[in-house]
Amino acid sequence: MTDTMNFDDRVVIVTGAGAGLGRSHALEFARRGAKVVVYDLGGGAHGEGKGSAAADKVVAEIIAMGGQAVADYNSVEQGDAIVQTALDNFDRIDVVINNAGILRDSSFAKMSDDDWDLIYRVHVLGAYKVAKAAWPHMLAQGYGRIINTSSAAGIYGNFGQANYSTAKLGLYGLTQTLAIEGAKKNVMVNAIAPVAGSRMTETILPAEVVTALKPEFITPLVIKLCDENNEESGGLYEVGAGWIAKLQWERTQGAKFNPAEGFSAEDVADNWDKVTDFTDSEKPKVANDSFIPVFTNLGIKIPGM
Ligand SMILES: NC(=O)c1ccc[n+]([C@@H]2O[C@H](COP(=O)([O-])OP(=O)(O)OC[C@H]3O[C@@H](n4cnc5c(N)ncnc54)[C@H](O)[C@@H]3O)[C@@H](O)[C@H]2O)c1
Repeated sequence: MTDTMNFDDRVVIVTGAGAGLGRSHALEFARRGAKVVVYDLGGGAHGEGKGSAAADKVVAEIIAMGGQAVADYNSVEQGDAIVQTALDNFDRIDVVINNAGILRDSSFAKMSDDDWDLIYRVHVLGAYKVAKAAWPHMLAQGYGRIINTSSAAGIYGNFGQANYSTAKLGLYGLTQTLAIEGAKKNVMVNAIAPVAGSRMTETILPAEVVTALKPEFITPLVIKLCDENNEESGGLYEVGAGWIAKLQWERTQGAKFNPAEGFSAEDVADNWDKVTDFTDSEKPKVANDSFIPVFTNLGIKIPGM
């Protein structure tokens, strides 16, 4: 198929681009004309150590195919330095792929404060720092695309990943609010929850499955959401092995009690089927969809709602 999505003159930062999904995204953006900041701390899967080899290797791959790229070996916690690398080398920043990640799995009972903090710092603080530093440039130029990498562990929970689940669903919260704040300036922000073979999944999946779940199957969605003709923002997508699907919230009609008369825990229990019955469910999309039934039940009409 002929390429119609072109990133000529666009500058793209991919965090964690030295391996796995990030490497795949970086190579494809570069193949489509982008100037890429290949950003990787080069440490281990649990946040230990650092090194330049991983990022350098991907930069060499991009240059070998005639593309343009520079390496940056900072941690995502220095997101402002990475954006400065993009500006110093390529004069602008158009796309941020927040992808860098590590794991510190352990049951909640055994999780240390260090495990909690490091996961927060790499996934949440790191994504915030890169997006925050890129944000004013995106608003000023009236163009920007950000992808935050979430996870099924965040959406659904997963044993041994309280730290990671919190961080990964937090990234979807960030995505939704940045999508609202960037809308008028053509800055679009989406989140993906990938399933792919990488060093992150090689310890939990059989080797042949890791090989089959190619990171390259995640990248086409990322490219599509970053295209200048993309109109989707604030979305969350599950993606892997050629399957791509969008998620949304679903809510029951709910039970209604009269606030003026008061109601008890027993009243709630007696109406539990109404609270939990998804027949005729709704699909709320914005924060007002949460406020409206609350105020309606109070008998109050808020102007503009
Ligand atoms: N592989 C999956 O199935 C899967 C599932 C859900 C979410 N994810 C997410 O996708 C992203 C990519 O994961 P992957 O599977 O390609 O893993 P990976 O370990 O192959 O790649 C992650 C890269 O991030 C880099 N990195 C780690 N900490 C960094 C930091 N502080 N600063 C800069 N770079 C750093 C690592 O050096 C590594 O190259 C992660 O955010 C991960 O949580 C992956």
